[in-house]
Amino acid sequence: MILIDGKKVAAELREELKKEVKGLKTQYNKIPGLTVILIGEDAPSKIYVKNKEKSANEIGLKSEVIRYPDTVEEKTVLEKIKELNNDESVSGILVQLPLPKHIDKQKVIETISPRKDVDGFHPMNVGNLSSGYNSSIPCTPLGCYLLLKKIEKNLSGKKAVIIGRSNLNGKPMTQLLLKENCTVTITHSKTKNLKNECLQADILVAAVGMPGLVKGDWIKKDAIVIDVGINKTDKGIVGDVAFDEVSKVAKAITPVPGGVGPMTIACLLKNTIECFKRSN
Ligand code: GUN
Repeated sequence: MILIDGKKVAAELREELKKEVKGLKTQYNKIPGLTVILIGEDAPSKIYVKNKEKSANEIGLKSEVIRYPDTVEEKTVLEKIKELNNDESVSGILVQLPLPKHIDKQKVIETISPRKDVDGFHPMNVGNLSSGYNSSIPCTPLGCYLLLKKIEKNLSGKKAVIIGRSNLNGKPMTQLLLKENCTVTITHSKTKNLKNECLQADILVAAVGMPGLVKGDWIKKDAIVIDVGINKTDKGIVGDVAFDEVSKVAKAITPVPGGVGPMTIACLLKNTIECFKRSN
């Protein structure tokens, strides 16, 4: 069994990106910049944003966090985004989700210039990805994809099963795997006999937020299992996959923590640099 070490792969990617930033600095005499907007006091969001800022600084990006209280008016946030859209020193803009209820998430996403949309959530990027054109690719599925490619260079013809149909993970993951000529099944809460679907999978991606949902007897021998889940439980942080059982059957598996998580931030840095390169 191969334990897919996301921490190590992410560290390697950050090292590559750090070199790239150095090169860009020499070439353009400026550096890519990432601006994150954080609204409110959501504890996990605060941790994520801190890690994003730290990682951006470590690879030499210009990094800024703009914080608002959860009472901030939607208009104020939208005006700030428009200002950042026009700020040449800002290559990428990310508004940390979830947002307070009185702020329209879709409006916020659509206000970010698609050229600076490091999350890949803007409808133009979503559309471009599904049409197979160049686009920003959402960071978590991109991270999953890069981990998969480390294990299996040629994914063509593989049967992939994705659990979860979210805009953040399941849907963009589907597009990435289709591009690689996988046969993709996307499953969700209304899927009948999920276990049988999973048993078909050469590649299984679990992204539903249900601790230990995927059991050992759901896995085809030698499948590759990517666990996107980050669930807080009495036993600490666990994934959507029952790791102890599944790791006995799978060919390769990502641990939680230390699998997909570190890749998400590394991919955000990658997307910021991509936005910078496209705009120059
Ligand atoms: N909150 C949790 N994950 C994400 C993400 O990938 N992007 C943003 N903007 N917010 C998040």
